Amino acid sequence: MRIGIIGYGNMGRAFALGLKDSYDVIVFDKDISKKEISVKDGLGFASSVEFLLDSVDLIILSIKPQDLTSLKGLNFNGKSLVSMLAGTSVSKLKEYAKDAYITRIMPNLAVVYKKGVIAFYSEDIKKDTIKSILAHLGKVYELEEKHFDAFTAIGGSGPAFVASIVEAMRLSGVYMGLNKDMSYDLAIATIEGTLELLKAYNEEDLVLKVSSPAGTTIEGIYNIEKSGLKGILMETFIKAYQKSKNL
Ligand SMILES: NC(=O)c1ccc[n+]([C@@H]2O[C@H](COP(=O)([O-])OP(=O)(O)OC[C@H]3O[C@@H](n4cnc5c(N)ncnc54)[C@H](OP(=O)(O)O)[C@@H]3O)[C@@H](O)[C@H]2O)c1
Repeated sequence: MRIGIIGYGNMGRAFALGLKDSYDVIVFDKDISKKEISVKDGLGFASSVEFLLDSVDLIILSIKPQDLTSLKGLNFNGKSLVSMLAGTSVSKLKEYAKDAYITRIMPNLAVVYKKGVIAFYSEDIKKDTIKSILAHLGKVYELEEKHFDAFTAIGGSGPAFVASIVEAMRLSGVYMGLNKDMSYDLAIATIEGTLELLKAYNEEDLVLKVSSPAGTTIEGIYNIEKSGLKGILMETFIKAYQKSKNL
């Protein structure tokens, strides 16, 4: 399977690097300075977008949504087109790529480490093959298009919100006299361990397991409940969802 990537920016490069060991990948970017980067990455750089379209079986589109108009007039010849353009529906994509089989995805940045989450909606006859290709980059969730905004809030923005929690843990450690680097390391190691525990217990059971009667943990849990912190966190995700819907 030969894969062509249009747009060799942050995400296009992450996809290319994640797929190049398993597939034949070539790339194209209108910014010619990206050629040097792709060559250093060991990837062929197509001389034109038309050349790329002629030479591949599947096209991954990783340009900015506002650049979609630049695809007008291109011939996709019934090939598979996978678009990661935020807020850009399949019906919108069809306006610019009438003769393509379209798949819409929404990845998060962790695809760089092949630990991404990827929302997936496909109208392609080769949908199962495309899904298995994307699985090289992380966990693929097949969803109705109407759920892409919710996915964006949890999976797309989620890493930034979790990073804010790490920041709060680190700052608390510093407040209590820990060295800032040690405090950061401790926060990360605690989260890594918690993820393992969450594979064994659901979140409610874990809270009870860690909370000894009249102990330190239940003191903190009491503060979480009393302050409405969970509600504030939910509101944070819901605000991201509403923003995504209104883009
Ligand atoms: N970054 C994320 O975390 C993330 C997460 C999920 C989804 N996405 C989606 O992924 C897409 C790419 O985002 P990004 O952050 O990788 O953007 P980016 O770094 O700006 O990369 C886009 C690249 O595409 C080039 N380009 C624009 N029009 C082109 C055309 N017609 N043919 C070939 N190349 C073209 C741009 O060149 P110029 O710079 O010269 O315009 C740029 O090098 C966006 O649609 C975004 O919504 C991003």
